[in-house]
Amino acid sequence: MQFLIIYLACFAFICSSNGSVVKKGYFWQVTDFHYDANYSTNGNPNTMCHSDGGKSHSNSIYGNYLCDSPMKLIISAIDAMQSIHPNPDFIFWTGDSVPHVNNSDLDQTKIYYNIGNVTEQLMKVFPNTSIYPVLGNHDEYPKDAFPPGATSYYSDILTVSQWSKLLGENEATVFKTGGYYSSLLNPNLLVLGLNTNLYYGFNPLTQNSTDPSGQLKWLEKQFKQAQISQKKVIIISHIPPGLFELFSGLMWFSNNFNEKYVHLVSQYSGIIAAQIYGHEHTDSFRILKDRSGTPSGMLFLSPAVTPWKSTLPGVGSNNPSIRLYEYNRDTGEILDYHQYFLNLATVITTNKDIWQKEYDAKSDYGLTSLNPVDFMQAAQSFRNSPKLFKKYLQYNSVSQNLNPVCNDTCKRVHVCSITELRMSDFNDCLNKPNPTLNPEPHSHPHTTPRPKAHVPRYMVIVICTLAGTVFVLAVIVAIICIKKHTVFIPHQYSRFSSPVGKGPIN
Ligand SMILES: *[C@@H]1O[C@H](CO)[C@@H](O)[C@H](O)[C@H]1NC(C)=O
Ligand SMILES: *[C@@H]1O[C@H](CO)[C@@H](O)[C@H](O)[C@H]1NC(C)=O
Ligand SMILES: *[C@@H]1O[C@H](CO)[C@@H](O)[C@H](O)[C@H]1NC(C)=O
Ligand SMILES: *[C@@H]1O[C@H](CO)[C@@H](O)[C@H](O)[C@H]1NC(C)=O
Ligand SMILES: *[C@@H]1O[C@H](CO)[C@@H](O)[C@H](O)[C@H]1NC(C)=O
Ligand SMILES: *[C@@H]1O[C@H](CO)[C@@H](O)[C@H](O)[C@H]1NC(C)=O
Ligand SMILES: [Zn+2]
Repeated sequence: MQFLIIYLACFAFICSSNGSVVKKGYFWQVTDFHYDANYSTNGNPNTMCHSDGGKSHSNSIYGNYLCDSPMKLIISAIDAMQSIHPNPDFIFWTGDSVPHVNNSDLDQTKIYYNIGNVTEQLMKVFPNTSIYPVLGNHDEYPKDAFPPGATSYYSDILTVSQWSKLLGENEATVFKTGGYYSSLLNPNLLVLGLNTNLYYGFNPLTQNSTDPSGQLKWLEKQFKQAQISQKKVIIISHIPPGLFELFSGLMWFSNNFNEKYVHLVSQYSGIIAAQIYGHEHTDSFRILKDRSGTPSGMLFLSPAVTPWKSTLPGVGSNNPSIRLYEYNRDTGEILDYHQYFLNLATVITTNKDIWQKEYDAKSDYGLTSLNPVDFMQAAQSFRNSPKLFKKYLQYNSVSQNLNPVCNDTCKRVHVCSITELRMSDFNDCLNKPNPTLNPEPHSHPHTTPRPKAHVPRYMVIVICTLAGTVFVLAVIVAIICIKKHTVFIPHQYSRFSSPVGKGPIN
């Protein structure tokens, strides 16, 4: 009887979960701290809350919507991560630790120290957790100016800013060549920490280069190796490809880098479980499509810790935020994420730093999963579902702006930024009569759409028939065994009978 139960259990198991148990883990993403050591409660909010000697201002100790983060806000954010989920598998820290002040107020050493101050705080609160950092465009001096080759800057980040305590020896060696690295999160899953600041349109040093710091060549090699060794990949970086949803036509990378990068990640979208970025300070997402126009990858854009109001016209402030992801440890698939925030408006009146849940991605957006097809559906329904779009818009500022005004043009810019990563596609999308009502995947003229590969129906029938036959045979064997009163030791179908997960390497 025992083995019959085992067989039945196996069968139920195979049927219910397609042969794999979801091995769920959690990780944090935190980004864009922009630590301003000169923040003062007496400081003038119109000059970054820097003290001007007067006593006429009274800013909260946790920050001001016009200014960058005081250390108190940084400690508050990291402590909130610790109290909400103290044992994540790892932490992704996606850059920008330096304040938005004039270059003349900074120098190389101050930048290293600023970054180091944040490193220390993260390590202090999470001493036993792997922290994977990447560089933001403000983390260089002067800002944005990352050179196309190797430089002592990268080794200084490792030593002075103490990133050598976060990265392993192999990671650090690669990091010195251009601020990027690859690291194993667990035996099945790789993180590629990139330095996309090299592709930034405002970077004055790399625009003539075809492959700054050899990162694209290296990246392709990583993808190929991951493919061969059957690993999945999570990409983390500061600046995302594509366009800003709050400023029509502003693409972050210069066009040739954007084309190359998007082409490369599309080519390997089968092994890229997720892409995770910061930089925008707003809460948004992007959908990568394959050559036939089918959604094939997700880019998650997490909002900032700093509440600072952008100098770009029309772009406001945001509430300080941190994000907790749920993922499948085997495949890297993002299962859900939970957005937490500090309502700075309340903090200013109460002086209490109480972090709250803002939303859960899956249930709040009404998604069945966080895969790109489901997200595409949500993005396309923004036009017909004003309620859903309003939600997205509110989250876009981390609930800082509860009644955002967004006319039809504004809505188009949001939706087309989400669904198109290339400038030409974005422009086409903007000019379409109704981009969001068109569920037809659009294809590039020079390529013929290829049908999505899937298991044909007859194969499913064949497999099920075989499985059924095996089951019937098992029952017959079982009956015979029972009749003969023999002791039957079932095979070690270890793959199915012990679905215990390998823990992450921490
Ligand atoms: C930067 O410099 C400009 C002009 O010199 C000045 O107007 C501005 O207030 C400065 N910004 C900060 C944040 O100090
Ligand atoms: C803070 O202010 C002092 C005095 O004006 C200045 O020397 C220093 O560079 C500032 N530091 C930062 C990180 O802005
Ligand atoms: C930031 O780092 C510098 C250099 O290590 C140190 O002197 C300073 O005290 C640190 N500041 C804070 C607030 O930790
Ligand atoms: C980190 O690990 C050490 C050694 O195992 C342990 O003593 C310490 O309590 C841990 N700290 C935290 C915050 O988990
Ligand atoms: C890039 O090329 C242009 C035109 O040849 C030149 O003016 C510029 O100085 C170059 N920039 C760099 C960073 O080499
Ligand atoms: C939408 O709003 C923007 C910014 O407020 C404005 O410039 C534009 O003219 C408006 N467009 C329409 C079609 O109303
Ligand atoms: Zn930033």
